[in-house]
Amino acid sequence: MVTGQHARGTEADSFGNGGVVTVDGLEKHYGPVRALAGVSLTVARGEIFGLLGQNGAGKTTLVKILLGMVLPTAGSARLLGRPVGSVAARRTVGYLPEDHRLPEYHTGPSLLDVYGGLQGLSAPVRRHRGAELLASLGLGGRERLRIRGYSKGMKQRLGLAQALLHRPAVLFLDEPTDGVDPVGRRQIRELLLAERDRGVTIFINSHLLGEVEQLCDRVAIMRKGQVVLSGTVPELVGRKQSWLVAFDRPPPEGLVVPGTRLEPADQPGRFRLSVHGDSPRAESPAEKQLDAFLAAAAAAGLALRHLEQERGSLEDVYLGAAQADAPAPAGPGGLAR
Ligand SMILES: Nc1ncnc2c1ncn2[C@@H]1O[C@H](COP(=O)(O)OP(=O)(O)OP(=O)(O)O)[C@@H](O)[C@H]1O
Ligand SMILES: [Mg+2]
Repeated sequence: MVTGQHARGTEADSFGNGGVVTVDGLEKHYGPVRALAGVSLTVARGEIFGLLGQNGAGKTTLVKILLGMVLPTAGSARLLGRPVGSVAARRTVGYLPEDHRLPEYHTGPSLLDVYGGLQGLSAPVRRHRGAELLASLGLGGRERLRIRGYSKGMKQRLGLAQALLHRPAVLFLDEPTDGVDPVGRRQIRELLLAERDRGVTIFINSHLLGEVEQLCDRVAIMRKGQVVLSGTVPELVGRKQSWLVAFDRPPPEGLVVPGTRLEPADQPGRFRLSVHGDSPRAESPAEKQLDAFLAAAAAAGLALRHLEQERGSLEDVYLGAAQADAPAPAGPGGLAR
């Protein structure tokens, strides 16, 4: 996105540790459609924040409001403490839109040169930075190729280079790895983690749950214009814990331990032991319940043959939270902080 000047550095640094993105009671109505129905959230400096949700949940609308491209119907939104849409707020931002179109007659370097000029970068800086980004995004060696000859994934990589060119303090990426092959996804992931480590705040809209799980420090799930769940990935997936267990013989019906549930698992001879810890951050209350169960099993004369912790997945949490007909869950952070 064209945002004016080379912006990173002093603006982000002078802002301290408060929310880089702060959204409060945001609403957007398109006629009868409530694209946003009261969204509040904060994204901290140096955080990679993932916004998930079904098609039409309101993710892009939220990003466009944060960029000052769409006006909210109600509520407030600030970027680095400044009202969204102000020139000062827009200078801090890099943006990769979903379904973006780049002028096809450019080559990668010539496109970055033009965009870098609009961003106020000097010719040597934009040449150097452009070449560096093209190389780290796997586009090195294709400098003479015009964009009309690019594959979908190459266009996506160049779009990302464009967003990063002026070293923005905040990056908004709408489906950044759409159409990118697995090698490219890893390159993009490494690049984004390096940016995060330099203090850049990254806001990602994505449908790729595995990628979000690997990349994002915190996640919010939207449904029908509202944030229904938010937290770190371990917080979200750690709410229910279960183990696969097997003993030398089937456990007797009478083996019931408070706070645990035992049921046959898909694999022969194995059982799924579900325990419900109070909080994923507390000192393993779930493991204390596991210990209590194993002690009861030993007291009943059973010998343990297999014990394996099952991992929750973001997909399970997502499917429960994001679907329109599922009851809205009360999350660990509940609504977004
Ligand atoms: N310019 C517009 N005019 C009318 N309705 C709109 C407009 N932009 C978005 N909407 C509606 O607002 C709702 C939210 O759309 P939005 O694009 O924010 O969803 P999204 O979560 O980004 O979806 P996707 O995952 O498909 O990208 C949808 O019902 C959409 O039809
Ligand atoms: Mg969208």
